[in-house]
Amino acid sequence: MRYATVLLLGALLASALLCDAQKKNKTKSKGKLKSTVAPSTLESATVELQRAERCTAAKCKLPDCRCSDATLPRPKFKGKEHEIPQALISSLALQFVTITFDDAVNAVNYAQYDLLFEGLTNPDGCPATGTFFLSHEYTDYVRVNALYNAGHEIALHSVTHGDGTDYWREATVATIEREFGAQLQILETYAKVDPQHVRGMRLPFLQIAGNNTFAAAKNLGLGYDSSWPTQQFKQPPMWPYTLDYLSVQDCQIGPCPDAALPGVWVSPMVTWTDTEGYSCSMIDACAYPPEDEVNALFDWMLENFNRHYQSNRAPFGMYLHAAWFSRGRNNFAAFKKFLHHLATYPDVYMTGISRMLEYVRKPVLGQPFKSCEARPKTQCQAVHCNVEKTVTGETRYMSVCDRCPAVYPWLGNPLGQAL
Ligand SMILES: *[C@@H]1O[C@H](CO)[C@@H](O)[C@H](O)[C@H]1NC(C)=O
Ligand SMILES: *[C@@H]1O[C@H](CO)[C@@H](O)[C@H](O)[C@H]1NC(C)=O
Ligand SMILES: [Zn+2]
Repeated sequence: MRYATVLLLGALLASALLCDAQKKNKTKSKGKLKSTVAPSTLESATVELQRAERCTAAKCKLPDCRCSDATLPRPKFKGKEHEIPQALISSLALQFVTITFDDAVNAVNYAQYDLLFEGLTNPDGCPATGTFFLSHEYTDYVRVNALYNAGHEIALHSVTHGDGTDYWREATVATIEREFGAQLQILETYAKVDPQHVRGMRLPFLQIAGNNTFAAAKNLGLGYDSSWPTQQFKQPPMWPYTLDYLSVQDCQIGPCPDAALPGVWVSPMVTWTDTEGYSCSMIDACAYPPEDEVNALFDWMLENFNRHYQSNRAPFGMYLHAAWFSRGRNNFAAFKKFLHHLATYPDVYMTGISRMLEYVRKPVLGQPFKSCEARPKTQCQAVHCNVEKTVTGETRYMSVCDRCPAVYPWLGNPLGQAL
């Protein structure tokens, strides 16, 4: 019986899904997801990039390399479920759900985030968490610190947010590094976020700049980007992958990268389908959402979720801006109801993107993680500041930890020092 189970498992597990208990020691150094690059010493090294080659499973292996066309072998379980203990089936391919919010965190949306995640837990008893892609202007860093201490993932969305897509489409590696590197410094200084914990980025307007975006991510020591939507790979949906080799992903908002950028993960934005069959990369970008009614919205979310859950279990993204909650009377209630529904599944985990990627890098049998993520427990003495935004002469109100800047932090002066 035991032998049979082992054989069966061996057949079911593709190389993408390996129990790597032997490699436990390596997990101690998380250096692959985040190398230590001090933001103040950043330089855009002009290294010549190589064109990426086609990916093959033989050349590209977990935990540090994954082909863009690799999927976990979920469909192979079909019809064999009765042969494997139920607990084992569900643990073979867990369903991750990544809830992300973009732009500034302020007092109003913080209250919504707080309500949304309150009391929400994963099957391992750890709190469900989301990812916050922060841009700088109007952000309340005391609230960011609270989200960080509550275990949410803090990620980067640039300082200025740019004024339109041209800025980002044509951005050089240096520009992208400056925008995202400065935001990292602001978070460290004014929200007490440890830069080691900041692992991902999302470009404003989802506008990537070909190789440059991902080269900048690599230079900044980030582990992943989550800006690249896919419409073609949603049925079955696409899993996260690395840019060691050429990506097969459809390029919706180009230019897309085609250089080899080893170790940089793409967490693709698998699009949703609205009620008219159109694809939307973010929930609030759907042109034809259902009517403003809790059950209609809930059913629609479930339909999109099931496209992942009932096929290959690629991570399911719920990407939005908090402004969506004010756009319909029932949006918030439906969203909250849906998250509480997800929390009843024994095999669904709501985590930050980098936590999800830990699992994709090292899928294991049984519970995905050995323990809950450590809470940062940083101290933040809230101070409220009125400071001048020197580029425009306007006054900006800003809440930060411990100490007001002399002027409003901005590109070129991320710490807001007196000039
Ligand atoms: C893991 O590291 C410990 C001490 O650092 C060592 O004793 C042990 O043999 C290592 N295990 C493996 C599987 O390498
Ligand atoms: C990316 O880099 C490769 C290798 O240097 C080059 O061939 C390609 O044209 C670049 N693509 C873009 C979109 O910049
Ligand atoms: Zn944005």
